[in-house]
Amino acid sequence: MSPFHLTRTLPEDATDAALRADVLHGLTRMPKTLPPKWFYDAHGSNLFEKITELPEYYPTRAEREILIGRAGEIASATGARTLVELGSGSSEKTRYLLDALTGLDTYVPVDVSESALTQAGHALIAERPGLNVHALIADFTAGLELPDTPGPRLVAFLGGTIGNLVPDERAAFLTSVRSLLAPKDALLLGTDLVKDESVLVAAYDDAAGVTAEFNKNVLTVVNRELGADFDPGAFAHVALWDPENEWIEMRLRALRAQTVKVPTLDLAVDFIRGEEMRTEVSAKFRKDGIRHELAAARLALTHWWTDTDGRFALSLSVTR
Ligand code: SAH
Ligand code: AVI
Repeated sequence: MSPFHLTRTLPEDATDAALRADVLHGLTRMPKTLPPKWFYDAHGSNLFEKITELPEYYPTRAEREILIGRAGEIASATGARTLVELGSGSSEKTRYLLDALTGLDTYVPVDVSESALTQAGHALIAERPGLNVHALIADFTAGLELPDTPGPRLVAFLGGTIGNLVPDERAAFLTSVRSLLAPKDALLLGTDLVKDESVLVAAYDDAAGVTAEFNKNVLTVVNRELGADFDPGAFAHVALWDPENEWIEMRLRALRAQTVKVPTLDLAVDFIRGEEMRTEVSAKFRKDGIRHELAAARLALTHWWTDTDGRFALSLSVTR
């Protein structure tokens, strides 16, 4: 195998069809919603990278701290020869795992963002000429099929991205990940933890307005891909803590009454002034909850590591 493969498991028209279905469903229900996976075109992926460097956005730094301290333990606990990473983005923190996994044969980054995958993949093969990189453009919630690579496999899902799925989606997702694992394989899961509301809200409503731009980028994606006429300036970024669900919710609030046309869907969507459309949930977790969700998917938690401030956790689990 040459060191860099890029495989599109979703044909481009399947991505278009999925976006059309999500937009039609999300804009014709009340309250309106748009799913967060559509944030990540090339501009959205770059904005996310800027978010990871904001003073208020602690999850990336906290998870990096854990990886720096624990990558050696993760490597000896798993002995992975293939590292699969779901929602790999820039693969920046992954480098600590790649350094520690001395017997690694293949890295399989999986992402819907082709720009993030190609950028990260090319950088990695230049840095690590001995590593096979088999990048997959795929939706990790839609029946993932992995390439045939040597085991044991470690499936990593970092950044707290599992929190961007609602509970039903998480249960289906964990069950599908479980079905990919053989007895010696493992799942490394990054989860942001419940903490003080003011810290959480600041992380999703930064002073520089980068998260607001990231949030509104979904409107630009829908405009470009479906010919819609959203005016991003007519919406305000909203981030609030939902204490019952223990998640941050990002919304876009219509600043005036307006009708948005989506010609590809033959749709005209009315917003009343002040109406809020949900664009993302970012769930925050507790150890017992994670253990329980893993167990429901027949996964057993074996290790639990947090950063020194207890803001974020990495857990390792195996099949049972
Ligand atoms: N793991 C990186 C990036 C997190 S950002 C980190 O910890 O910093 C979330 C990433 O998941 C983005 O790169 C986005 O494109 C990807 N993503 C979001 N939903 C996805 C889906 N349904 N399938 C595949 N990738 C997805
Ligand atoms: C990718 N995901 C874990 C981020 C989060 O924190 O939920 C996405 C994000 N949304 C706003 N800021 C960052």
